[in-house]
Amino acid sequence: MGDGDFGRVFPNAGPVRRNCEHWGRFGSYAPRSRATVVAVMTSIANIVILTGAGISAESGIATFRGPGGLWEGHRVEDVCTPEALAADPALVHRFYDLRRAALSKVSPNAAHEALARLDREWPGALLIVTQNVDDLHERAGASRLLHMHGALKQALCAVCGERFEWYDALPPGTPCPACAAPALRPDIVFFGEIPYQMERIEAALAEADLFVSIGTSGAVYPAAGFVRMASAYGAETLELNLDRSDGSGWFDESRLGPAGQLVPQWVEQMLSRRPAR
Ligand code: APR
Repeated sequence: MGDGDFGRVFPNAGPVRRNCEHWGRFGSYAPRSRATVVAVMTSIANIVILTGAGISAESGIATFRGPGGLWEGHRVEDVCTPEALAADPALVHRFYDLRRAALSKVSPNAAHEALARLDREWPGALLIVTQNVDDLHERAGASRLLHMHGALKQALCAVCGERFEWYDALPPGTPCPACAAPALRPDIVFFGEIPYQMERIEAALAEADLFVSIGTSGAVYPAAGFVRMASAYGAETLELNLDRSDGSGWFDESRLGPAGQLVPQWVEQMLSRRPAR
């Protein structure tokens, strides 16, 4: 499946569609029993971890779909679409400028630290795929990491496609350092745009023995579909979330609670190769 196919099959918009016809290629799916997850916990080599806004909540970064469905006072549709950028670039740029500036006031929490420890110490393959645009995973020390929805501290030229590290305000019309077009925008994957590095993600999912989803509502594709894809490829699947996500029923096991507690416990369990209890 190429990038183009991903864009068609998993549009980055809309609600979870459990009966999506495109999933027919994987046949019927039934979650394994929890006992199965426990049994294989000691024979796992390759891990893919998906993180969402919930992992950064305890650092003080608002999630997207909290009470009221607002993201720091804005409907996500007002600031996270190409149409919004075209209609009111000043609003969209300012929104992300504030988010970028706010990163200096927050720090990685115990969940980020635990994943960074797992990244350092896990002997097998590991990939952290984050939907988050904050930089808390890398500040905690994680390196086997990709930002599928972009990054606040990057700018993207809408004309030549070059990316640049960006730490300050980014007013509309800022010239691109590479091609000089006044077209730099925040390097954020908006609704309707195709997330980054999908081929690499699918390759990792295909090899995964364990897929773990942390702090994500399962409301936005393609990430919401990773659990079923991983499962279809043969991985065990585990959810660590404050409450049940939209796709919770697809996981072999769900552990409910704050990421700051659940993730360090799980990482300790993996590194000591103790089966779950
Ligand atoms: N620990 C664990 N999970 C938590 C915590 C916490 N302390 N706090 C909240 N959560 C959970 C919520 O229960 C919810 O299921 O995190 C999830 C956050 O969901 P969303 O706000 O929808 O965030 P996310 O899933 O990352 O959104 C996906 O949507 O708007 C787009 O591109 C944006 O990347 C984003 C994508």
